[in-house]
Parts: sequence; structure tokens; C-alpha cells
Amino acid sequence: MIARRIISIATLLLAITACSKDPAESRVDANPERGKIALTQYACHACHVIPGITGSKVFVGPQLDGVASRPMIAGNLPNNTENLVAWIRHPKRIDPLTAMPDMGVTEEHARDMAAYLSTLK
Ligand code: HEC
Repeated sequence: MIARRIISIATLLLAITACSKDPAESRVDANPERGKIALTQYACHACHVIPGITGSKVFVGPQLDGVASRPMIAGNLPNNTENLVAWIRHPKRIDPLTAMPDMGVTEEHARDMAAYLSTLK
């Protein structure tokens, strides 16, 4: 009986320590391979031709090959990681008239996508 009680207390303590982990600690660095998957999952290729992502040739948005070498994003923002993430998450906040929709991309997914796009020089 006592042994069982000790085990259940130990399990409870383990569960508590697992939950109290700082969420900032569990954040991992942006990863281009995950970004590639996220670009497919959010169907960015429904409007963009993206090297390395299979899809039909649609040209609603600009082709994203060489996007890392362009000085500006969407003709609006200096091209850097923070601005790229901001554009991917909320294009309408930056340019209310853009045809690119806000797609509910999470910060983490946007960072992974930006990591992949930054390899397209
Ligand atoms: C409905 C079509 C559509 C979808 C879906 C879409 N985009 Fe766009 N995107 C556009 C258009 C149109 C532009 C050009 C905006 C402008 O220049 O004002 C653009 C611009 C961009 C640019 C800037 C390119 C440059 O050369 O300046 C990036 C980066 C981009 N989109 C990434 C994405 C990502 C990542 C996704 C998926 C989360 C996505 N887009 C989904 C239409 C779309």
C-alpha cells in the first residue's frame, strides 16, 4: 500500500515538474526543413512558385526563387528575418491592399518558413 502511494506521489511530482518547464526554454531555433513542410501545409504554393516545393505553376504572387537576394519584401519592407516573419504572418497589416491573405501562420511556423526562404538566393 505504502509503496503504491509513494509511486503515485512520485508520478505526480514528475508531472508537476514536467509542466512547470519555462515555455521559452522549449522553443527551438528556426529550421529550414520544418519551414519547407510548413510552406506546403499552409499551401503557400497555391499562389507562389517556390523552389523545392512541388505544386502547379501559379503566379498570383511572385515566384519565390531568389527571394533572399531581393532588397525589399513585397516592394515595401527592407528584407530581413523580422520583416519576413511579419509579412508572412500579417501581410494585410503591412499592405491592406495586397492580394496575399493573413493565413493565421504562427510565429514559430513563420520563422521556419523564413529560414527556408532565406536559403533561396
Ligand atoms: C492568395 C495568394 C497568396 C497566398 C496563398 C500566399 N501569398 Fe505570398 N504573396 C502573394 C502576393 C499577391 C504577393 C505580392 C504582394 C505585393 O507585392 O504587394 C505575395 C508576396 C509574398 C512575399 C514577398 C515576395 C517578394 O518578392 O517580395 C513572400 C515572401 C510571400 N508572399 C510568402 C508567402 C508565404 C510564406 C505564404 C504562405 C504562408 C504565402 N506567401 C501565401 C499572394 C499569396
